[in-house]
Amino acid sequence: MVARAERYTEQGQSPKKIIRRTELAPGIVEFEINAPLIASSAHAGQFVRVLAWAKGELIPLTLADWDAEKGTIDLVVQSLGSSSAYINQMLEGEVIAGIAGPLGLPSQLHRYHDGETVVFTAGGVGLPPVYPIMREHLRMGNHVTLISGFRTKDLVFWDKSDGRVGLLQAEYPDLLDVIYTTNDGSFGINGFVTAPLQEMLDAMKTDSGRTIGEVVTIGPPLMMRAVSDLTKAYGVKTVASLNSIMVDATGMCGACMVPVTIDGEMVRKHACIDGPELDAHVIDWDKFLPRFLQFQKQEEANRVRHNFA
Ligand code: FES
Repeated sequence: MVARAERYTEQGQSPKKIIRRTELAPGIVEFEINAPLIASSAHAGQFVRVLAWAKGELIPLTLADWDAEKGTIDLVVQSLGSSSAYINQMLEGEVIAGIAGPLGLPSQLHRYHDGETVVFTAGGVGLPPVYPIMREHLRMGNHVTLISGFRTKDLVFWDKSDGRVGLLQAEYPDLLDVIYTTNDGSFGINGFVTAPLQEMLDAMKTDSGRTIGEVVTIGPPLMMRAVSDLTKAYGVKTVASLNSIMVDATGMCGACMVPVTIDGEMVRKHACIDGPELDAHVIDWDKFLPRFLQFQKQEEANRVRHNFA
């Protein structure tokens, strides 16, 4: 027992060293990081909190992958704020000050009937958190439709035959359909992820397409809202994975509060402990979306202070 406790402590304290760094697209970097304790207990849908430097801020990032045997986790980071920009400049061999996790509730996975599909709408770097969840559905035997949207062709990643999505397509040729969209039409369908989703919903309604068991949406908040509004009209269960602003990630501070309506009553959920996945149709998006902008001025000032402007 003592030996087990020692091993546990050793794993928890091992430096969060960057093993591999891969530039996926401009401003988007994939990291493989030594984190054996997190890797040994991670589940699809969970997130970690990353402290880039000792006096920095803890930012939430949903796990893109993990390897319990190697003791590593994979994160994909897009340079947006000063912390993410700092992390993306780090090189192989460098050590991240701290990573806490896995946190949040794992995805709830259901086995759907043959002919039904689980649709994932991923916006930009919503794709990495989608990846392990859709892989679990595929392993269970569920049919999956991935609608992966990007602003433009240059930002597309993991689509090639040796990319993560390409490899899943090769492994599950009969179970995985992939549709790409770009806002400017430079790759895949011209438009947003909602366009092919709407087509699928209409086809389901007229019995000319697959029944949609559920929709999982991860990406920019406005995209998740648009997906939620669309599927609500068709009565299709929809789950949104929320990458909210977080402070303590223990359900105490209220920073990640998500207003939801249950039986006509407004209830406060917290993305850190009740999520990150929540029923998209009960979220009060009008109240929730402005919360993403509450620290915009401080974030801009911080970027200037750290020369990331
Ligand atoms: Fe404080 Fe969730 S981050 S309650």
